[in-house]
Amino acid sequence: MPLNTAAIKPWKRSPGSGHSSLPSRMGIDIASYSNEPVTLAIVGCGSRGKAYSAYAIGEPTKCKVVAVAEPRPKTRKLMTEAHLVDKTLTFESWQDLLKASEETVKTVGKRLADAVIIAVQDRMHLEVTLAFAEQGYHILCEKPMATSIEDCIKMEAAVKKANIIFGMGHVLRYSPYNKAVSEFVLSRELGQLVNVVHVEPVGYFHYAHSYVRGNWSKEEECSFSLMTKSCHDIDLLCHWLSPGTPKRVSSFGSLLHFRKESKPREAGDAKRCFDCAYERTCPYSAKKIYLEPLSKGQIGWPVATIVDGIPDIENVTSALQHGSYGRCVYEHDNNVCDNQVVNLEFSNGATVSFTMIAQTERICERQSRLHFSHGEIIGDMNTFTVTDFRTGKTTHHAPKSEGGNHGGGDIGLIRTFVEAVRTGQQELLGTNVSEVLKSHLTVFAAEQSRRMGRCGL
Ligand SMILES: NC(=O)c1ccc[n+]([C@@H]2O[C@H](COP(=O)([O-])OP(=O)(O)OC[C@H]3O[C@@H](n4cnc5c(N)ncnc54)[C@H](O)[C@@H]3O)[C@@H](O)[C@H]2O)c1
Repeated sequence: MPLNTAAIKPWKRSPGSGHSSLPSRMGIDIASYSNEPVTLAIVGCGSRGKAYSAYAIGEPTKCKVVAVAEPRPKTRKLMTEAHLVDKTLTFESWQDLLKASEETVKTVGKRLADAVIIAVQDRMHLEVTLAFAEQGYHILCEKPMATSIEDCIKMEAAVKKANIIFGMGHVLRYSPYNKAVSEFVLSRELGQLVNVVHVEPVGYFHYAHSYVRGNWSKEEECSFSLMTKSCHDIDLLCHWLSPGTPKRVSSFGSLLHFRKESKPREAGDAKRCFDCAYERTCPYSAKKIYLEPLSKGQIGWPVATIVDGIPDIENVTSALQHGSYGRCVYEHDNNVCDNQVVNLEFSNGATVSFTMIAQTERICERQSRLHFSHGEIIGDMNTFTVTDFRTGKTTHHAPKSEGGNHGGGDIGLIRTFVEAVRTGQQELLGTNVSEVLKSHLTVFAAEQSRRMGRCGL
């Protein structure tokens, strides 16, 4: 089928945006700065692809999804229909989308979209980013950048060379709560930030879903859990402590609980929840995590992630009977840490103590204590208090979230990214690819310290 090139807009740029070299290098039409919706290609229409593209439905004047790539047929169809994507701009893989884009660049001098959202699994981020950066697409790449130091460095180099707008899925920075806390921190209103204690409670069944049974359970297929789960926490901590930079790091952690030795005796040799005598008592029962919420009409995360298309009792039961998500959490081949602590010392002497822990009732609602020379901030990702020791006054803050995941961070990030693309201003994102690389290097150093049993950086 020939591509519907009428559905494709020319590249936009704003005057003085600093990417002037790009369109001419690509030999592509240059349209001047415009208020038309920014066009997006979505690579990977799973949870994250859906989360970001939801913004286009809520704010159609800001951005529009014009192309998608996704191998799972029902998932692809749902995305295509939700955004009325032209059939000729719907692809089974990012490679096909890229090929079509190469074609249109050659034939009509247009890319398929202004920007691409890269929401495929961790190990694919580098290859996809390099390919689309080379074509001059602006990029919002899910976290982590990549899964090795070398690959993160390659990504930084490619993005800088392409001179594109680059966003990273460090959504925490963009939630109204964290924006408000960051404003206090960076204003120095309470003096110098001396120490931060930050806890990331993963959530007991979230951990079982993602890090025992799911996509982030085996390091060789994704990365270690400090990277896959906590790289945005380390990024946020580095942001709060800036312009100080991490100087020394130490870390301890292990996979303590989700292993065969911890299996309750009553579970016997059952390999699946459906065959287990302990299932009614077990907090990690797949029936409790997936089937029971589904029977109450809850079709969102996590059950939505285990089937192609819309979950129903039949396809979910089948997934639990035959797939990874119905297997006993003590009989899996997972190997990533379920608890890890990281201590950081910054160049200005400030210190950080960070904990990532699986066994919590809270799901991802971080708790933070920030200790300043003249006061403290205590927060839980919803509300925070600010105490000024000079006045003895404590104020309460409850920044309003517009909903969505990560306390509104998902919407905050995509909105900021779209505006950065529209205006050509990387600064709007409050970070850049080099800063993103630095915080990733801190995560690698922490993990190295855990493995080697010594201080890193
Ligand atoms: N920022 C955050 O807070 C956050 C939260 C969760 C996940 N993530 C990251 O986001 C990324 C995606 O995670 P997810 O939960 O959406 O996973 P997912 O498995 O739900 O989605 C990934 C999608 O990519 C598709 N895909 C596979 N091969 C493809 C190809 N060749 N071309 C196009 N699409 C392809 C899969 O079919 C799937 O639908 C991961 O890197 C993950 O670590 C970030």
